[in-house]
Amino acid sequence: MKLIDGKEVSSAIKEEIKKEVSEIIDSGKRAPHLVAIIVGDDPASHTYVNNKEKASVSVGITSTVYKLPANITQEDLLETINFINNDDEIDGMIVQLPLPDHINKDIVINAIDPSKDVDGFHPMNVGKMVTGEDTFLPATPFGILKMLEYYKIETSGKHCVVVGRSNIVGTPVSILLSRKAYPGDCTVTVCHSRTQNIKDFCLQADILIAAIGKPNFITEDMVKKDAVVIDVGTNQVKSDKTKSGFALVGDVDFAEVSKKASYISPVPGGVGPMTITGLLLNTLKAYKMKG
Ligand code: GUN
Repeated sequence: MKLIDGKEVSSAIKEEIKKEVSEIIDSGKRAPHLVAIIVGDDPASHTYVNNKEKASVSVGITSTVYKLPANITQEDLLETINFINNDDEIDGMIVQLPLPDHINKDIVINAIDPSKDVDGFHPMNVGKMVTGEDTFLPATPFGILKMLEYYKIETSGKHCVVVGRSNIVGTPVSILLSRKAYPGDCTVTVCHSRTQNIKDFCLQADILIAAIGKPNFITEDMVKKDAVVIDVGTNQVKSDKTKSGFALVGDVDFAEVSKKASYISPVPGGVGPMTITGLLLNTLKAYKMKG
């Protein structure tokens, strides 16, 4: 079994981004600038945004975080987005999800200028991804592609089973891996909470991507020998082994499945760091698109 080390892959890519950003600054131009908007006080969302901010700064990307109260009106949030859309010195913008219930996520995502949508969530960018046009790929699926590429994992003709159909991970990664490309050219099956006999599908997977949000959902008996297993789960579970009383676990029973897999990504230290790297790559792309 080989470990798919997201920290190693993300460090290598961040080094390349850092070099490119420092060349931009040395040439007298301003640094790329990413803005993150966070609404409310969900602790997990604040941790994610803090990590995005730290990673941006570590590669020389300017980072601004707008921390907005949970009771902000949708109108005021849209006004903030519009203000950022019109600021020529901001290249990329993300609105951290989930949003409070009184705010319509789709209206918010639609308000982001597609040329600044470094999450790749705007329907225009989703459409471009589906038709294979150059665009911002959603950060987590983008990070998964980069991991497969780094380890030179063969994907052509392989059966990839994706467990989960979210707009953020399951659906886009299934589209990307079926495209005529490397990584890609897979035969893809998407399973979800209503799939019957899910184990039978998982057992057919050469590449198994678990993004269903259920701790240790994928057990050893669901995995074919020598499969490549990518764990996208970020489940907070109670633990007496950590100071906080919580631990982060994936969707895969790592201890047992790792005995069978040819490659496996751990949680933490697998897909998580790659998600942020995907966002940084998109921010640099947004900057360069402006010419
Ligand atoms: N919430 C969970 N994942 C993401 C992500 O990739 N981007 C944003 N904006 N919110 C998220």
